[in-house]
Amino acid sequence: MGASALAAAGVALPFDLGALPAGDRSAAPNIPIVVASANGIRGVARAYDMIAKGADPLDAAIAGVNIQELDPDDQSVGLGGLPNEEGVVQLDASVMHGPTRRAGAVACLEDIATPSLVAKAVMDYTDHVFLVGEGAKRFALKMGFKPQELLTEKSRQAWLRWRANLNPGDAWIGGPPAEGARTSSANRDKVHVDANGVEYTTGTINMCAVDSRGDIGSVTTTSGMSWKIPGRVGDSPIIGAGQYCDNTVGAAGSTGRGEANIKVCGAFLAVELMRQGKSPEEALHTVMERVIAMTEKRLLGANGRPLFDLTFYAVAKDGRYAGACAYEGTQFAVADAKGARVEKCSFLFRESERPRA
Ligand code: GLY
Repeated sequence: MGASALAAAGVALPFDLGALPAGDRSAAPNIPIVVASANGIRGVARAYDMIAKGADPLDAAIAGVNIQELDPDDQSVGLGGLPNEEGVVQLDASVMHGPTRRAGAVACLEDIATPSLVAKAVMDYTDHVFLVGEGAKRFALKMGFKPQELLTEKSRQAWLRWRANLNPGDAWIGGPPAEGARTSSANRDKVHVDANGVEYTTGTINMCAVDSRGDIGSVTTTSGMSWKIPGRVGDSPIIGAGQYCDNTVGAAGSTGRGEANIKVCGAFLAVELMRQGKSPEEALHTVMERVIAMTEKRLLGANGRPLFDLTFYAVAKDGRYAGACAYEGTQFAVADAKGARVEKCSFLFRESERPRA
């Protein structure tokens, strides 16, 4: 029986199929589902379990990313995240809650390991959407979050090695370049090379969840670009760039070079393209093409391909999903009725087309 026949028969649908693109109305919804960057593989499993037991999709997604935020060995987010150029860990995060159309965000937050939860507190307890820096920290302390040193010894050693190798003429000396900057293909968008051949990393988790009613939540959390100028804010806490959620359509988010994404409002654009009828994969490819079209020359190789990595993730309200990036080899995490797993992102270019800086 089709959707319209079900409606005519008075059978309650789990969500408004009328909001889905016309071409997809016959597809069986694949919900609940949780989609994330590959480093969220443990998180999607936790979030899916929570949603299966009736948890709110945003609460579940935040609980998913909390695993990495609180893991001192993970240098991409939260506790143990790589610091800025002064050796201080500054964290960014944003959240959106589809059913209530609310959002919250924090940036340059110091000393609190779970910026995702502080972003949710901004959403839940204030009339604002975005708090930054000292104000965000003071707010977090008032909300009962406990301050702690976020710079682990491992991340401090990485910062020291970066600092010592920065300028042979200065008074900082040290060992070889920081180990651990290069990562597995599961999360290769952590490492970037700028136009001068200098490596930097971005570590981030985006997670989007759809529950069995079709309600959606999304979160992105990060320690941002390693060695950044203090005060630098990436795409993660920017609603519409690092993540976006519209309960009638779906959600999207990103990891990788935030500066490239901010200029195209990539998560918002992906959701809008899905609203217009594109599949998640089609939408993400169009977003990546827009990113490249908006990239300044110094960040493109002679062949016009980007010198950086950026990955997008999207899930539609009916559970269709995708991860997509410029170059082959990146993976993303997904959990649905088939279990938690990593899958390959679709891509625009073969690795052989990646320009050397
Ligand atoms: N995408 C994370 C950042 O650029 O900070």
